[in-house]
Amino acid sequence: MSVLFEPFPLRNVVLPNRLVLPAMVTRLSGEDGLVNDDIRARYVRFARGGVGLIVLEAMAVHGAKSGPLLRISSDDFKPGLSDLRARVHDAGPSKVVPQIIHFLKIARSGWRQTVDMLSLEEIDAIVDAYGAAAVRARECGFDGVELHMAHAYTLSSFLSRLNPRKDAYGGSLANRLRLPLRVVERVRRRVGDDFTVGVRFLGEECIRNGYTVLDAGPIAIELARAGVDYVSLSAGGKFEDARVIEGEPLYPYTGYSGDRCMPGSAYPDGANLYIPEAVRAALRGAGLETPVIAAGKLGSLELAEKVVARGQGDLVGMARALLADPDLPNKWRAGREDTVVRCLYGNVCKALDESFRRVDCTLWPKKLGQAPLSADTEPPAWPAAGAGLRAECKDGRVLLRWQAASDNEAVYGYQVFRGERATTGGALVHHASVRALSTRYEDSRVVAGGDYRYAIRPYDLAGNRGPMTDVLDVHVPS
Ligand SMILES: Cc1cc2nc3c(=O)[nH]c(=O)nc-3n(C[C@H](O)[C@H](O)[C@H](O)COP(=O)(O)O)c2cc1C
Ligand code: SF4
Repeated sequence: MSVLFEPFPLRNVVLPNRLVLPAMVTRLSGEDGLVNDDIRARYVRFARGGVGLIVLEAMAVHGAKSGPLLRISSDDFKPGLSDLRARVHDAGPSKVVPQIIHFLKIARSGWRQTVDMLSLEEIDAIVDAYGAAAVRARECGFDGVELHMAHAYTLSSFLSRLNPRKDAYGGSLANRLRLPLRVVERVRRRVGDDFTVGVRFLGEECIRNGYTVLDAGPIAIELARAGVDYVSLSAGGKFEDARVIEGEPLYPYTGYSGDRCMPGSAYPDGANLYIPEAVRAALRGAGLETPVIAAGKLGSLELAEKVVARGQGDLVGMARALLADPDLPNKWRAGREDTVVRCLYGNVCKALDESFRRVDCTLWPKKLGQAPLSADTEPPAWPAAGAGLRAECKDGRVLLRWQAASDNEAVYGYQVFRGERATTGGALVHHASVRALSTRYEDSRVVAGGDYRYAIRPYDLAGNRGPMTDVLDVHVPS
């Protein structure tokens, strides 16, 4: 059996496997911050797919105003969260922890509160709020709690090399760590020794003068020594390079650091793996066995296994790959990787989050509001006259077109396979996927004079693949 499906112990729980759903805001809650039907359906769907650990989307530890966001800032939120926790546990073997967050104020005028504006009393209140929220997480029956210290939010801004404070909370790394460590210590003291406490933080800020893995290693070591049970590494997602839009509050994923946080289709798979690799090496070098969660375009079984084999992570985080196909873990375990519906990494979900609209995957059938559930085993078929795959070279691009396939339920999409004589000797590899609405694909990643080969495969709602078309050879004119 794959190493990915070995049980993995954390402090008080054993994960059924090494696959993790990192936190992903859904914008399904209202501004009241309460769990509702849509949230329940979303996380039950993930749990049915068999992922080892579900990290629930960031929820606020304090009462500050925000757009739609879950909250754990008072006991009023406990009944909804307890019920959600119970439903997730009932739906499958997944363990589940909430990610808890403190954020500073932002305004439509472009103004934003920065850490140097906080008084010492306000800093103490952040420590109190995290401690109280972690206790609530425990009282709700969660398997642990994850402290959000990543991206553009308060604790990350303290860790940042751009933290402008002039007192004991800014400047040196020891000072920048002071509040995050106080939070870990308080949380640990309040939840006790038999409750998992994880931390998500940035392995690299991905902004000018921001910190890199050179600081992330020591940060991880200090957090681990303070009692955290895993470190989950993210990258970027900062205000400093966010796009400024008149009259809109800054959204911290619109600049280069946002691209690095949720690497899109232009980035290679595993684009950020050097980060968890370096942090894990630093921890092990310090004699610490704290597990590390890697993330960032890790959607294939081969790559996920390599992450563990190469020591680039102990646990494999997949956010968008699981949004696209929550059944991915069960499919991998059953040896049915070829039925996984693959994320396009086109970041429609990210754009929805940015505009405070419900975060759905662009692949899902419209109006369903979640990934389709299907136990069908009959694959789609091409028309009797064939798929009619043809190509046209225009303006340095290759435009492919084909006939629509049919299915007993519904065709869900098409996979585009490509071979390149110069680099792979023409071997076909998965290149992109296309939604069923379209029977065309434009390949703009070709060079003049290059020789390419293409083939298309349809798939249905359950991910069953239909037959591959004949291979089409294309020469791009010079
Ligand atoms: C729509 C969306 C919402 C996200 N919300 C959070 C969040 O609440 N907390 C967090 O730590 N990361 C958040 N992330 C980042 C993901 O957890 C993850 O690190 C990132 O998408 C890269 O992993 P992936 O390539 O597997 O998607 C979000 C990502 C997306 C696409
Ligand atoms: S919307 Fe696009 S990037 Fe997001 S999960 Fe779906 S396919 Fe992936």
